[in-house]
Amino acid sequence: MEKKPLIIGNWKMELSYRSSLEIAGAIRKLLSSVDFNGQVVICPSTLALPEVADLFKNSTKLGVGAQNVHWEEKGAWTGETSVMQIKPFASWCIVGHSERRALAGETDEQVRRKIELLLKHEITPVVCIGETIEERNQGQSIKKVTGQISTILEGLHRSSLPQIVIAYEPIWAIGTGEMPNPDDVSEIMLLMRKIISEKYDANIADRIRFLYGGSVKPNNVSDYDTQPGVDGVLVGGASVHPMQFADIVKAIAVDSTQ
Ligand code: PGA
Repeated sequence: MEKKPLIIGNWKMELSYRSSLEIAGAIRKLLSSVDFNGQVVICPSTLALPEVADLFKNSTKLGVGAQNVHWEEKGAWTGETSVMQIKPFASWCIVGHSERRALAGETDEQVRRKIELLLKHEITPVVCIGETIEERNQGQSIKKVTGQISTILEGLHRSSLPQIVIAYEPIWAIGTGEMPNPDDVSEIMLLMRKIISEKYDANIADRIRFLYGGSVKPNNVSDYDTQPGVDGVLVGGASVHPMQFADIVKAIAVDSTQ
């Protein structure tokens, strides 16, 4: 791992408001004794954002992120959440998660607009990209991912690019226990960095953080976080189990000192 490790927990729609607070409290307690020179970010449901942010406010290790945001600042968008509404509580925001792309029809262009808006409000976008199982079986993984990177970054101001976090999540690995070959993950990470380096410059490419996501658990995290080009992980299922999540952080803390 090349930079300070970054570990993001995406709670999706798994927890009630009450459970969110209990689990946030348990994670804070478990991590308080972990010697970790990195950043942990929890993305609860929008409803729980204020309380989780309050629970983490005195921690230097723990941050809070939203799971999604709308691409417009405000307007007649029933049921959506604006950047203005998350801003007091969240310093991070996931965008373009494959579940939103698949279920809510989110496009790369919408993802790009969300990134722009988040950067304007100084919220770190955690941009998810990845290929489907069909694309993988057709040997199209690299083509898909590099295409997504190009569309998403198109038109973004170079000065704001280092703020972005990119999470490579093969869609077929999310919630399935199917793990990609760690060497393949590393290859994709290094390729993304190369594309950004050629389009902008090496300094920008080096500063962008790249995460791996998809079925990360305590027993497999070290296969990925130790790969060249991987700066951390995006964790779904295991992040709602405080012990499992803390064990992932501990494993990365150990790996990052070696
Ligand atoms: P998972 O989810 O860890 O449960 O596979 C990852 C994600 O959706 O970001």
